[in-house]
Amino acid sequence: MIKAVYPGSFDPMTLGHLDIIKRASKMFEQVVVCVLNNKAKSPLFSVEDRVKILNEAVKDLPNVSVDTFEGLLIDYAKENNVHVAIRGLRAVTDFEYELQIAQTNRKFSDDGLDTVFLTTSLEYAYLSSSVVKEIASFGGDVSRCVPPYVDEMIREKIGRV
Ligand code: PNS
Repeated sequence: MIKAVYPGSFDPMTLGHLDIIKRASKMFEQVVVCVLNNKAKSPLFSVEDRVKILNEAVKDLPNVSVDTFEGLLIDYAKENNVHVAIRGLRAVTDFEYELQIAQTNRKFSDDGLDTVFLTTSLEYAYLSSSVVKEIASFGGDVSRCVPPYVDEMIREKIGRV
């Protein structure tokens, strides 16, 4: 059975992430969306909220589950016997960074952790969690970037109606 992990900050999950999750769920027998808690970043949403959002998003995808981890992805992969990581690529600008991380993970993992890149659907090519937070923080409408329940949670967080 080929199990894959889709790691990320998901702060918050966008429609671009969800597109990758749905496509990955058709390619792998099991997909674990893993919220990696990076203490260096100060997130908008707690890990619990991010997991809640993801669980709601994947509730109709039976082969997708949600998990969390603090530390290196290669350690998570080893503990959970996963050999494939999924990452979305939006543009060439993503590629340089992602390539370095993918090569590092492969080099440092004992069992070999390969990264499979999925190119983001064009309609979401501009989209990132940072863009969503930036727009929302200045009162912009992010309803076309995230599912309705995430839009609602952002409004509650940022204190707007
Ligand atoms: O959604 P993001 O912020 O682009 O996700 C980046 C993430 C969390 C996948 C990446 O930073 C990561 O894997 N962090 C865990 C630490 C690690 O394993 N780093 C890679 C080796 S330097």
